[in-house]
Amino acid sequence: MMNRKLLVAGNWKMHGSLAFVDEMMSALRQSLPDQPKYDVAVFPVYIHLYEVINNKPDSVLCGAQNLSEYDNGAVTGEVSAEMLQDLGCDMVLVGHSERRIKNNESNSEVAKKFAQALKFNLTPILCVGESSVQRQGDQTFDVVWDQINTVIEHIGMESLSQGVIAYEPVWAIGTGETASAEQAQEVHQFIRSQLALNDDTIARRIRILYGGSCKGSNAYELFSMPDVDGGLIGGASLTAKDFMAICQQA
Ligand code: G3P
Repeated sequence: MMNRKLLVAGNWKMHGSLAFVDEMMSALRQSLPDQPKYDVAVFPVYIHLYEVINNKPDSVLCGAQNLSEYDNGAVTGEVSAEMLQDLGCDMVLVGHSERRIKNNESNSEVAKKFAQALKFNLTPILCVGESSVQRQGDQTFDVVWDQINTVIEHIGMESLSQGVIAYEPVWAIGTGETASAEQAQEVHQFIRSQLALNDDTIARRIRILYGGSCKGSNAYELFSMPDVDGGLIGGASLTAKDFMAICQQA
């Protein structure tokens, strides 16, 4: 297996405050080793981006939770990839299920946002995953591959390889019902094997994170799976103690 550096990413969603940012950044500065053997990233809400970028330890990457598919213009309420780059952002989530569902984001829109991120040197994390109904209907592989393949059809495998994939079964997000390590590995292995049909080197190199009720008590087993390259963490990224409990499993 190719050694891929693990990534532990905390998606703070619509949580936090300036006091929370101060507390989290100082706790991470105290708790993280100087040069961790894994990558760490946090994804604050926009208004905290500037604070996080200017208070974070050097080893911590900072990402945005969304961006516009457009360069600029009359797009009320959105933020451009160029603005995020200007702020000093490193990464951006695209296709998170909460946006696919609440904002009706299509696979095609997600693919355009993925391309926008790359255009302004942001590393996109492509979030994919099935609903419980789709899993019960044996549609998991079809749903996940359609979400990934739309990006490949839009910008090609080489561009996809500059990002990260996060498999987040919708039924595990915020529910406390974590996918078992075997369930996660099955889907991660499927994704990697499908990518290998296009380009084996890219398939072995691209990082595939797991997300969905990942926490300190189950991170080690999940991260031990050969095709799991870290986690995209929601609830358990909202306190330094919980987030570090996961980082220490990496
Ligand atoms: O993006 C990560 C998030 O969707 C997972 O949330 O609370 O289940 O860890 P949670």
